[in-house]
Amino acid sequence: MYHDYNFGSVLAASSRAAWQIDDVLPADARLDFARPFMPESLARTGALDGLSRNEQLILNQVRGHEYLVIFGLVEEFILPFVLDHARPQLNGDDARIRALLNFASEEAKHIDLFKRFHQRFVDGFSTPCHVIGPPEAVAAEVLRHDPLAVALVILHIEWMTQRHYVDSVRDDGSLDPLFTSLLKYHWMEEAQHAKLDTLMVETLAEGRDEAAISSALDEYLEIGMFLDEGLKAQAAMNLEALERATGRALSDEEKTALSEKQHQALRWTYLGSGMTHPKFVATLAAISPAARDRIANVAPAFC
Ligand SMILES: [Fe+2]
Ligand SMILES: [Fe+2]
Repeated sequence: MYHDYNFGSVLAASSRAAWQIDDVLPADARLDFARPFMPESLARTGALDGLSRNEQLILNQVRGHEYLVIFGLVEEFILPFVLDHARPQLNGDDARIRALLNFASEEAKHIDLFKRFHQRFVDGFSTPCHVIGPPEAVAAEVLRHDPLAVALVILHIEWMTQRHYVDSVRDDGSLDPLFTSLLKYHWMEEAQHAKLDTLMVETLAEGRDEAAISSALDEYLEIGMFLDEGLKAQAAMNLEALERATGRALSDEEKTALSEKQHQALRWTYLGSGMTHPKFVATLAAISPAARDRIANVAPAFC
């Protein structure tokens, strides 16, 4: 066994880690627009040739705006998926049902928190930033797939959140403290979600032969490509937001070059950092070494 996760210990740990929205976002708290919101390893705005320091900072903040919205968006499909997974077995294992309902309830709280942070951003930023969506359409597209494929996407997302905070945010003192605390509190609860995702994936993979696992993996990749199209569109929208906020008109060549680099930055943020997370890879390997190898082959394109 490559892990010791169980519903009882996850439930106990999540009760200890639980917080209230007002603890994370007090009524009078403001984002500090003199600072970056996103760590450079995810934003990749600090090294963009042709942008001034101030333009790099504004694009970093636009990436922060995008992060708030994309997380709100993915959590809108995680919530119904977890409820649907819990629903067929409401009797028997009390720890299981409590842990899954608690997971769904925390995700509903996160959706609310990301929306409130989004409003705080809008209140302080000079011009509008547009985003892909709407979330209901994205959720409908993702949820029409094989539940094992969706569970793998969710497992990927929740380990990815862990990585964002631990590898990039925790020790970066240059970031806006309010944004950092959002990522910290989110990380605290997501740590338990990723364990529950692992248990969900194992349940859904149980009894499947190699062909059935491989077909779920096809669908996982299909969802990944769908999300990647959205990320490409989002990278272009971020540059338009930069132009609006700074009043600078980028030439077509500048736009093409910046879009390509920023699309890759979004790929790493939402796809590569999850696909290559060691815990995600370990779960894949446990259900099928061939599945692990397939993902290892495609992952470099998203890093
Ligand atoms: Fe969350
Ligand atoms: Fe979560």
